[in-house]
Amino acid sequence: APQYPRYTRAEVAQHRTPSDRVWVTHGTDVFDVTDFVEMHPGGPDKILLAAGGALEPFWALYAVHSQPHVLELLRDYKVGEL
Ligand code: HEM
Repeated sequence: APQYPRYTRAEVAQHRTPSDRVWVTHGTDVFDVTDFVEMHPGGPDKILLAAGGALEPFWALYAVHSQPHVLELLRDYKVGEL
């Protein structure tokens, strides 16, 4: 299995805009989803609400994400671990 770099939540929080890169967490995984923002089916504005932090509070409100294909998509953007 690949070794990923470790990041703190404070480091993740510094990536909140496309120019600073857009990072999110899910569990203890860290993702750089900058290149997905414009492809998000729910639109760029919605996905950017989670930028720099955890996806779970938002995904709890939008059950459309509770499908295997969504996590599979996210996996491709993994850059690190908390
Ligand atoms: C839909 C991925 C973050 C709101 C979707 C779909 C995917 C996706 C794949 C389509 C699912 C389907 O129809 O089968 C992601 C990823 C995210 C993310 C990878 C983060 C990295 C968010 C956030 C919000 C959100 C933070 C809300 C604040 C929505 C909504 C839809 C949607 C409302 C439904 C769009 C529609 O069908 O009209 N998302 N999402 N998403 N997402 Fe996200």
